[in-house]
Amino acid sequence: MKQFPYVSRHATRLGHKAPLLAAIVAILLAAGLVSSSLTRTPAVASTSGSTPAYLDSSAPVQARVADLLGRMTLPEKIGQMVQIEQSQVTDTSSNCTSQGGFNLPNPVCEQKIFVNDNVGSILAGGSDVPIDTTGKGGPGNTGEDWANEYNTMQSYAISHSRLHIPVIFGVDAVHGFGHPFQAPLFPQSIGMGATWDPSAAQAGGQVTASALAATGWNWDFAPVQDIARDNRWGRYYETWSEEPALAAAMGAANVAGLQTANTGSPLKVTATVKHFAGYSESINGHDRVQAELPLRYLQDTFLPSYAGAIDAGAGTVMVDSGSVNGIPATASHYLLTTLLRDRMGFKGVVISDYGDVPALATTYHVAADLAGAAALAINAGVDVAMLPFNADQWQTAVQQDVANGSISSNRINQAVSRVLTLKFQLGLFDHPMVDAGKADAAVDSGRDVTLKAAQESITLLRNQKNVLPLSPSAHIVVTGPSADSMTNQLGGWSVAWQGVFGSGHVCCMGPPNQIPPGTTVLKGLQAGDPNVTYAADQQAAVNDATSADAVVVAVGEKAYAEGLGDNPAPALPDDQKALISALEATGKPVIVVVIAGRPLGLGPAENAAGLLMAYQGSTEAGAAVADVIFGKVNPSGKLPVTWPSDAATPGGDFNTGAPSPLGDQPKVFDQLPYTGSGPGSGYNPLYPFAYGLSYTTFATSGLSATSGVSRNGKVTATFTVKNTGGKAGTDIVPLYVHQPVSLVLVPSQRLVGFARVTLDPGQSKTVQVTFPVSELAVTPGDIDGTSPPQVETGAYQVQIGTPATLTADFTIH
Ligand code: BGC
Repeated sequence: MKQFPYVSRHATRLGHKAPLLAAIVAILLAAGLVSSSLTRTPAVASTSGSTPAYLDSSAPVQARVADLLGRMTLPEKIGQMVQIEQSQVTDTSSNCTSQGGFNLPNPVCEQKIFVNDNVGSILAGGSDVPIDTTGKGGPGNTGEDWANEYNTMQSYAISHSRLHIPVIFGVDAVHGFGHPFQAPLFPQSIGMGATWDPSAAQAGGQVTASALAATGWNWDFAPVQDIARDNRWGRYYETWSEEPALAAAMGAANVAGLQTANTGSPLKVTATVKHFAGYSESINGHDRVQAELPLRYLQDTFLPSYAGAIDAGAGTVMVDSGSVNGIPATASHYLLTTLLRDRMGFKGVVISDYGDVPALATTYHVAADLAGAAALAINAGVDVAMLPFNADQWQTAVQQDVANGSISSNRINQAVSRVLTLKFQLGLFDHPMVDAGKADAAVDSGRDVTLKAAQESITLLRNQKNVLPLSPSAHIVVTGPSADSMTNQLGGWSVAWQGVFGSGHVCCMGPPNQIPPGTTVLKGLQAGDPNVTYAADQQAAVNDATSADAVVVAVGEKAYAEGLGDNPAPALPDDQKALISALEATGKPVIVVVIAGRPLGLGPAENAAGLLMAYQGSTEAGAAVADVIFGKVNPSGKLPVTWPSDAATPGGDFNTGAPSPLGDQPKVFDQLPYTGSGPGSGYNPLYPFAYGLSYTTFATSGLSATSGVSRNGKVTATFTVKNTGGKAGTDIVPLYVHQPVSLVLVPSQRLVGFARVTLDPGQSKTVQVTFPVSELAVTPGDIDGTSPPQVETGAYQVQIGTPATLTADFTIH
């Protein structure tokens, strides 16, 4: 059996609670280290009488950084360049090497890690959760527990370290703060992409930031700016879209929400643009397998998505865990310095992904040992290694590198300055403690914002004879494996790394069965209609269908994350296809609700009367699905990706049509990975990019555009959208650019912007979409393709519709 390299990642043992926990908590409470009213620590203070400049909150950040840097020893600096998993601090033994566990911070390990090893940053891995620290009983893993764990470690580090430098705590809050079990969670990013609503991504960022700031875990490893080009990859759902312009717009808004939210806490949050660069494009759809990316494809298609979020001011960037063109990204000076810093102008902190600096020696074998690996990574541009184990080895390795000149002191100072700058900017020196008593309320808020995002994400793909919406008094049979599964609708990075440990979990790890509060599809439909019944199996569903008006069958995928979610042929499983076929055979209208992180081969669902894509819409997905099914919400989601078909393609000789000895082939295999609409692709997907129906109809007319523009200029397209149907609704209009003649191959339509227009029946609005022509830059040259992208001069056209139904010419001079 294949050994997964992932099983040790983020693994959290179902550790026991210390029998003397209550006593320990009492001691900590008495010491003021775990307190719901602790808002500041007096620990950040000078021991010499006069306050050093770096502790003067009114001094400019640059001056504070310079002052502090000047006081630091080499080991103190090296400690700022590493992140350690929190489980090592909560290890119950004095080894402090635990790779998972539910415990309180252990003072022996705090001393070792924060004082002896000078560690400057802590990571909560995907399945790490704190235990109950409130003394109220219960399973732990509440917002207050997170805040208490933070306060305990932070106050120890500040009071015991020589210079009282606060630690920065990092966590993957990729669709809301997914660790504490009570938080409302947003649709996974692929569902957010279907909203085409940057304000939803911004609001999501704000809700997440409030939860993070309230608990102190303010280094968020989000957003993912990789683009969705291969749905075999198990992290596809973490991306916004296959199109860089949509991904960039959503990522930029999300960063703004995370970093500028008014959270009510003096601590600010930093976003992380990840995984730089090209992580989503492994050669075979498997996670962390090499990417072979022609530089033209890397520069013109992948970088713009990262650039959107970086230009929005993201404080940190995380490195791609894979290799690109034969060089591990973690060791790539070209990616991390030439492109990211010199060309894209990124000024913040670069962190490696999990374990990737040691992996340069142990997995990639481009270095002999950790010292060699650290030198490669740091010289390439990594400022912080998410090590995440054994900080003493890190100290030894990097000290050795500095002593023998493999890493210069200047480079160390540069990296540490960036880390300190971030810490000052986030308020960690001035307001390091959080009020744990407020954390639960902050973590639990934002459910209305989450519901709105889920509603906007639902994408109506089929509505034969207007079967939808259903009447709220219709007799509906609800069935299918995802009908009543919070686990499935949440997906990965929800309470635990591979998804909340509950029915249908793909793996074996995770904390206790803490299913977050929310609404499943069944509960949502039951709340909207008294005549909804549930059928637990196929036979019951078929029997019940005979007396029903319609059947709603929720199918799709189980929760998954890195590695375990890779799938060579993503499709509905055979038993789900059989269920749908059996229900369709009853002759009753069948509404298929797909709950999945990616487009799946649909089999008989391609012919269902109604077909809704609900993505992994998370805690409020069931309410959102019900709102659309009953017409309370008019669906407006549009696919952020192309949806392949798995209808059988007659096999045979391409030219003669002679039968193939292999027989007919499922088309889904022909259509993977993404082949897009590039010239000559002949791609004929089931549903094209940006597809999605409404309960009303729209007409777009009168497209015009700025006629002439320089290479540094902007084009404004103007057009009118009218609601020509009988219901209020929202239309999303993608705007493409077509370049009739270009010197290098470009897709026949490139997405450059979009409009989102809400209209009453009969109402029309004239809207403008403006885009910088720099979005059209392409890598010039016919051989090496290494030059920076440039905008070609000449004739262009803005287009609406695929194929275009409206066009307007413009020229770039
Ligand atoms: C993932 C990152 C994540 C990190 C920390 C890694 O395995 O690739 O996306 O931020 O773990 O949890």
